[in-house]
Amino acid sequence: MNNRKNILITGASDGIGAALAKRYASPTTRLILLARNERKLVSVAQDCKKKQAAALTYRIDVTNTQALQKLISEIDAEHPIDLVICNAGVTSIIPKTGEAESWQSICNVIDTNLYGVLATLNPLIDKLRERKHGQIAIISSLAAHYGMPISPVYCASKSAVKGYGQALCGWLKADGISVSVVYPGFVKSALSDQFHADKPFMISPERAADIIYNGLQKNKASISFPFPLNFGIWALSLLPSSLADLIMQKLYGVVKGGVKSGAKSNVKAR
Ligand SMILES: NC(=O)c1ccc[n+]([C@@H]2O[C@H](COP(=O)([O-])OP(=O)(O)OC[C@H]3O[C@@H](n4cnc5c(N)ncnc54)[C@H](OP(=O)(O)O)[C@@H]3O)[C@@H](O)[C@H]2O)c1
Repeated sequence: MNNRKNILITGASDGIGAALAKRYASPTTRLILLARNERKLVSVAQDCKKKQAAALTYRIDVTNTQALQKLISEIDAEHPIDLVICNAGVTSIIPKTGEAESWQSICNVIDTNLYGVLATLNPLIDKLRERKHGQIAIISSLAAHYGMPISPVYCASKSAVKGYGQALCGWLKADGISVSVVYPGFVKSALSDQFHADKPFMISPERAADIIYNGLQKNKASISFPFPLNFGIWALSLLPSSLADLIMQKLYGVVKGGVKSGAKSNVKAR
């Protein structure tokens, strides 16, 4: 079938990206799946093909921005993209001994979560504008609205893509391109496994994929979940910052000199 809807997803080998690929898989879709782990990508593609979708896999590191832009231009020339989902992401968590995130972690998070998104979209924006058609989704986080004290650079990266996505939304609407920024709360995945402290209202990647899919079908500019966590974060931003900070410190077990013992620590960026 030649008139399939072409859907490009970065970070499609695991977690939310893999669940989204399977959610979109149907006889009318072509999934274009990007990530570093080829074995996992192929397995996701096989699951998509079982639902009669076409599925292509590309092993790429989104921090290699030149190679990524070249690849995306080539893919778009062959299979004009209808929907691009910028999902690939990593986190870094401050160690429980309390020292700052390493410079290596900081660069890895910014390179992946910010430059990775910009380099995914840069080769596509003018093509979508020429075609006056297309949809863009950027996976940010509820952490974009109020910084979690255990992952400063992650929150910075998610706030940055929130601002970028909101700006694109306003700019590209006139060209018939819809842009959605997605703000998940906790979703069970290798990434969220790295967060110490409680993960209230955590949902499965499949449930997250359903919510994102439904929001994108409606072209919603902002897809935020789960209630009541999104409500809680919104309410936090209305409080005086001294009180809001105190609540966040308690939630994440931040104490003088580090993070409360018993909390898991992971200094690695992924
Ligand atoms: N889980 C949550 O609680 C949560 C909450 C809010 C927002 N999010 C966001 O949701 C997105 C997906 O996260 P997840 O929870 O599904 O995490 P995950 O299960 O760890 O999946 C992350 C995906 O990103 C890919 N990736 C990471 N670094 C990459 C790189 N340099 N180049 C190419 N692909 C890369 C990984 O594939 P490879 O390792 O194969 O490259 C994997 O497919 C992220 O943007 C994350 O920030 C997650």
